[in-house]
Amino acid sequence: MSAPGPAARLLVTGGAGFIGSCYVRDVLARRDGTRITVLDKLTYAGNRANLAPVEADAEQAARFAFVRGDIADPVAVGPLMADADAVVNFAAESHVDRSILDPAAFLRTGVDGVHVLLEAVRRETERAAGGQRLRPPRLLQVSTDEVYGSVEADISREGDPLAPRSPYAAAKAAGELLAGSYHATHGLDVVITRGSNTYGPYHHPEKLIPLFVTNALDDRPLPLYGDGMQVRDWLYVADHAGAIDHVLRRGTAGEVYNVPGSHPVPNRDLVAQLLACLGKPWSLVRLVEDRPGHDRRYAMDGAKLASLGWTNRVAFADGLAATIDWFRANEAWWRAARSGEWHAYYERQYAGRLAGADAVTLAAAGAEADPGEAAPADVASGGNAAEAEA
Ligand code: NAD
Ligand code: TYD
Repeated sequence: MSAPGPAARLLVTGGAGFIGSCYVRDVLARRDGTRITVLDKLTYAGNRANLAPVEADAEQAARFAFVRGDIADPVAVGPLMADADAVVNFAAESHVDRSILDPAAFLRTGVDGVHVLLEAVRRETERAAGGQRLRPPRLLQVSTDEVYGSVEADISREGDPLAPRSPYAAAKAAGELLAGSYHATHGLDVVITRGSNTYGPYHHPEKLIPLFVTNALDDRPLPLYGDGMQVRDWLYVADHAGAIDHVLRRGTAGEVYNVPGSHPVPNRDLVAQLLACLGKPWSLVRLVEDRPGHDRRYAMDGAKLASLGWTNRVAFADGLAATIDWFRANEAWWRAARSGEWHAYYERQYAGRLAGADAVTLAAAGAEADPGEAAPADVASGGNAAEAEA
């Protein structure tokens, strides 16, 4: 095993995205000598502005480099791997709804891209065996609870079978299975994390929380899929990034670690809490046509990660408040993210769903849980005048 210590040289792929950029900002802010090179293709989800705090700090900037490139390109990956003690692979297409509309890029990055990274790690491992470098690099593959599929009851443990149900989850399962196979077959130093639904600052406004926060700030309708009773387990982004770093430094080669948020909540209750924090009415919510194959529930057991010495630090109420504060304070960031291609995606995903959807009462939607104070007494009045963006 060759887990990197302080002052390691890390290659962080997908480090300009939501979770990857948090990882980069937090690790460099420790000022322990760690050097990071980010390799990122800068897809619609990648944003150099997410790394601006690092580049604005002279000491951190001196330990940081950015390379624009594709993990599926061996020419870009090879030389970077030769200089790395470890690679943390965040790079992926990450949105389930987009994987339903257009899965090709999910496979290219999630399968071909992971394969290219593994081949580069394999070459460096062989160089280490031949005495051409001190130690082989470790690869941490960032995966997801969605590989377990929809978990109607009980909780998923690391040894459970994988049963992905969306093209996104299938691509993620393929990537981590490939990584595991290189550990078993070629002895590569691989560790895998399976994180739950993550939220926080810099979250692209296509996912539930940032989409609903930014729509609500503009008094636009909030398109809640199906009956809104799907359960997700929310994990604050700094906790997810911290857990990944903990596994990178202390995890056992060949092992998988669940990273739960330990805050399971039905979407409807989450939206009610979010609206309460924003001071916006429940009448913004529209129940719209469901996502095909929509997983009902995710839930993971975190005992294995806990036994490695990791515990989450941020309570959900605090994380949500910090997230909303961040979106309020960073309007230019999210308005830029909601521009260009975003409009075409929004139109394709939501225009049909929102046309014809009415504001809903909680009773009409069959709510079992108390939605809390965000559902005002006049919810049955039909909602506000906000219309779907066309
Ligand atoms: P994101 O979409 O915000 O960021 C992905 C980043 O990868 C972007 O910067 C993008 O430009 C880059 N990228 C995409 N394809 C690339 C390629 N071929 N080569 C190089 N860079 C490429 O995603 P995120 O939410 O930060 O998720 C990061 C990782 O964590 C993903 O692997 C995702 O599957 C996993 N994950 C996410 C969540 C979540 O709730 N967001 C939960 C569990 C696991
Ligand atoms: P999302 O943020 O896309 O994450 P994931 O699909 O990876 O869990 O969605 C979280 C939950 O919110 C999921 O059950 C789908 C639901 N959802 C909506 O109801 N409406 C939306 O517009 C979006 C984006 C998600």
